[in-house]
Amino acid sequence: MSVRTRYVIANWKMNGHRDLVSAFNQTFANYQGDTKVIVCPPFTLLGSNWDEQIKLGAQNMSEHAQGAYTGEVSSDMLKELQVSYVIIGHSERRALYGESDQLVADKVQSAINNNLMPVLCVGETDEQREAGETFHVVKKQISTVIEKIGTDALTKVIIAYEPIWAIGTGKTATPAQAQDVHQAIRAYIAESNSNAASQISLLYGGSVNADNCSELFEQKDIDGGLVGGASLKPEDFHKICISV
Ligand code: 13P
Repeated sequence: MSVRTRYVIANWKMNGHRDLVSAFNQTFANYQGDTKVIVCPPFTLLGSNWDEQIKLGAQNMSEHAQGAYTGEVSSDMLKELQVSYVIIGHSERRALYGESDQLVADKVQSAINNNLMPVLCVGETDEQREAGETFHVVKKQISTVIEKIGTDALTKVIIAYEPIWAIGTGKTATPAQAQDVHQAIRAYIAESNSNAASQISLLYGGSVNADNCSELFEQKDIDGGLVGGASLKPEDFHKICISV
């Protein structure tokens, strides 16, 4: 057992209403696991009444502190709603909203400056994996952030490896495939900072469900999961949380 903090994070994406918050509160009222449970609902639900077992994360935030940025939400605003975590650079934001590695790095820096823990998402496409570029892509995504924040600050970051071909497809990476990339990420960080490498929690995401989670979470360098579809079903998500 590693001493690293273990997390299961729900990314509801643009799903869920108040009734789902109530269902989660009921399901998690007696949760006593060691694994930290974080729910990232849409912004509109962050101010709801949440059971104290559940910690809150946002799915995105602005890199700016305030100002004329219509439709954006700042880290300060999130802190006011007791949010402690924020997903940054999800592949859907990179692909659909044009978020570059540089913008992602700026957001990670801004989150850390404001004491929010960023959950930095990285991962390759199907074509990139086929071309043998997986680690090259993931390393570039991480190195742009390291250039911005330095390696010491990685102890204030969670990294989620989410292969794009596994997101919402039902096609999970095998435990060995996931472990390979996680191990490579940790080794890459260790090249410049062994302390950060041993402390940082690395999560796997991509079609995690109540049936496949145990095998994934058993892997040496996998410290939990970032869950999309299965996190919309409170019972399934609860099963995933207690399997870490
Ligand atoms: P799925 O679990 O639905 O594949 O989504 C993964 C994801 O994108 C979590 O951020």
